[in-house]
Amino acid sequence: MTDSPATDAWIGALARAGLLAPGERATVTPLAGGVSSDIVRVEVPGRTFCVKRALAKLRVAADWRAPVERNHAEAEWMRVAGAVEPDAVPGVLAEDLAQGLFAMPWLDPRDHPVWKAQLRDGRIDAPFAAEVGRRIARIHAATAGRADIAARFATDHIFHPIRLEAYLVATAARHADLAGELGALVERTRRTKLALVHGDVSPKNILAGPRGPVFLDAECAWYGDPAFDLAFCLNHLLLKCVWRPQWLGRYLDAFAALAAAYLALVAWEPAADLEARAARLLPGLLLARVDGKSPVEYITAEPERDRVRGVARALLARPVARLGEVAAAWRAG
Ligand SMILES: Nc1ncnc2c1ncn2[C@@H]1O[C@H](COP(=O)(O)OP(=O)(O)O)[C@@H](O)[C@H]1O
Ligand SMILES: [Mg+2]
Repeated sequence: MTDSPATDAWIGALARAGLLAPGERATVTPLAGGVSSDIVRVEVPGRTFCVKRALAKLRVAADWRAPVERNHAEAEWMRVAGAVEPDAVPGVLAEDLAQGLFAMPWLDPRDHPVWKAQLRDGRIDAPFAAEVGRRIARIHAATAGRADIAARFATDHIFHPIRLEAYLVATAARHADLAGELGALVERTRRTKLALVHGDVSPKNILAGPRGPVFLDAECAWYGDPAFDLAFCLNHLLLKCVWRPQWLGRYLDAFAALAAAYLALVAWEPAADLEARAARLLPGLLLARVDGKSPVEYITAEPERDRVRGVARALLARPVARLGEVAAAWRAG
């Protein structure tokens, strides 16, 4: 059997990156990749690792640098976060900047299930959610007020389009009466420069490993508002209530556990200030997952979408400062 041209290309790339010895063969298995990168498992006798590579070919010529930069930002986030919370990241084995790729240890899915799948299947563990909150908070705390780290993550030009514009600005275009409120959220978030933000703390990017939550996919890493990570992750727990309404109470218990564990570790600013920013971002993000550029795939029925819109719009019009108030409005909505 001959290797496919795609495998040959991978083997060449891995050899150039120093991940394979000259002439060494490997089995390269693609994993489900995102919009801007390929991700593969690489097996050679005696070792298995995972490689994430920015896509070489892009649709929009003007964006040609962005995926390579995002790949580097992810490797950098893993390094910084791993120095704070070693168990919370896979780790970086090697990086090849020119090729826009980095390698991580392989985390076997048999003992590292994706948290999203667990939540979908009713394995809703509030202590695990709390540990997600604690680990994110410790990474924020350790990076708060660090000009050197801010300089390594000067990624406004990535975070603004793929987070603030795709979510909040796009949503404002569909809800013109709330454009002022959504615009104010965008402005405040872009001006808030406090800590290293992961940018995509979603259950689909969190593995439930034997030593707790492992965060993947930090392509949107940005030095900015830590409230974004908290609100972004809590948003997913609210959305799961629409997906699996029979477990609403348990998702909200996980929400409360995550929020409390996170807020208990906020020391770089008054916790109430951070909580108020998260409580205001959350309805904007909720509405964005129905009417922004990246709607969730599991909320498609119009009555369900309308229910999300109803709660989110009311909270945008009359903001609350406590995350518990957001959860209560959601439960009642
Ligand atoms: N180090 C790893 N070990 C094992 N599986 C991984 C590893 N990194 C990523 N994966 C798997 O690949 C999937 C996609 O990875 P992710 O970094 O989220 O890429 P994408 O940008 O394509 O979403 C993850 O959900 C996980 O199942
Ligand atoms: Mg991902």
